[in-house]
Amino acid sequence: MIKSSVAPVFWDDERSRLQLVDQLALPDNYVLLTMESVNDIAHAIKAMIVRGAPAIGITAAFGVYYAAREAWKSHDKAALIRNAKDLLAQTRPTAVNLFWALDRMMACVEKHISDATPDAILCEAKQILKEDYDMNLAMAEHGADAIGNVKNILTHCNAGALATAGLGTALGVIRAIDARLKDNGESLHVWVDETRPYLQGARLTSWELMQDGVDCTLITDNMAAHFMKQGLVDAVIVGADRIARNGDFANKIGTYGLAVLAAYHRIPFYVAAPSSTFDANMATGDDIVIEERAPSEVVVINGKRIAPDGVKARHPAFDVTPHQLVTGIITPDGVLRFSDK
Ligand code: MRU
Repeated sequence: MIKSSVAPVFWDDERSRLQLVDQLALPDNYVLLTMESVNDIAHAIKAMIVRGAPAIGITAAFGVYYAAREAWKSHDKAALIRNAKDLLAQTRPTAVNLFWALDRMMACVEKHISDATPDAILCEAKQILKEDYDMNLAMAEHGADAIGNVKNILTHCNAGALATAGLGTALGVIRAIDARLKDNGESLHVWVDETRPYLQGARLTSWELMQDGVDCTLITDNMAAHFMKQGLVDAVIVGADRIARNGDFANKIGTYGLAVLAAYHRIPFYVAAPSSTFDANMATGDDIVIEERAPSEVVVINGKRIAPDGVKARHPAFDVTPHQLVTGIITPDGVLRFSDK
C-alpha cells in the first residue's frame, strides 16, 4: 500500500478545530496552524497557507461547517451561512474544486437546515476529505498502470500530498511507480521544476518527496527542454485546477510550455485529477478564469528585490493547456484520452 508521511489538512475532533500545515513556512519549518473562524479559513486559502486545488476545496468545506455552527442558533442561519460561503468563494478563482466543495456543502446545509445540530455538515466535510484521499489512491494505481515502470519523470508545481488530502494526484502516481520499481530493487527518479515565481516545486515538492525517500533532482523551469533533449525524461505528469469538457485544463503557470516541449520531444504528457477538478459547465479551456496575482511575487524573492525598482511585471498564476497536447488524464475511474497523442 502506498502512503505519504505528510498531509496539509487535519480535523481535530477533540477541539473541534481545523488545523492546517502552514505551507508558507515550508520547507524550513513545519508549523500547524489552528483555524478559529471562517475568516481565518478564508485568509488561509487566499494567503496560500493552504494551496493546491483539492486541498483548497477540502478546507473550504470545513469553512462552511464553521459558519454553520456559528450561525446554527440564529434566526437567519441560512443567510449567515450563505454570506460565509460567498466569502470563501472569493478567495481564489481558478481551482474549480473550491466551488465544487462549496456547492456540495450548501446542498448539505439546505438538506439539514432544520436539524437540531449542524453535525451532518461536519460529516459532509469529513467525507469530502476522505473521498479525496481514496480518489488519490485509485489514481495512483491507474496512473502507474498507464505510464508503466519508467525511470525518469518530470513534474511541475506541487500536485502532491500537500495539495490534497494526502498522497497527491501527480505525486500519488509517482509514489506508486516508485513503489513498484522498488519491489524490483530499482527506483524512480523525479525531475522537480522549481515553479517560478511561487516556487511550489522547490519549496514543497522536493521537500515532500525527500520526506518519503523518493529520489529527486530540483531544476529551474527553463532546464526542462535541455534534459528532455538528452533523453533523460521518460514522461511528464502534472495536476490540474480545472478541466473543461473537451480536456483542456488549467494548471500552474508553466504547464502549457512543458506540454509543448513534451510534444516536440515525443514524451508522454499526463494529467492526474480527481472528479472534483472536472468542470461540466465549461466546454473548452478558453473560458477558465486565470488568477492574476501580485507582480511583486515575480520581482521579490524571499524579501529580496531581483529586478530594477519600479519595473513592470505580470503574474498569471495559471495557464491553460489544450487537450491536443495531453496523452491521458488519469482519473479515479481510469485514464481518459482526448487526443491521439
Ligand atoms: O497556486 P497553487 O499552489 O494552489 O497551484 C497548485 C497547482 O497548480 C497544482 O498543480 C494543482 O492545484 C493540482 S494539485 C493536486
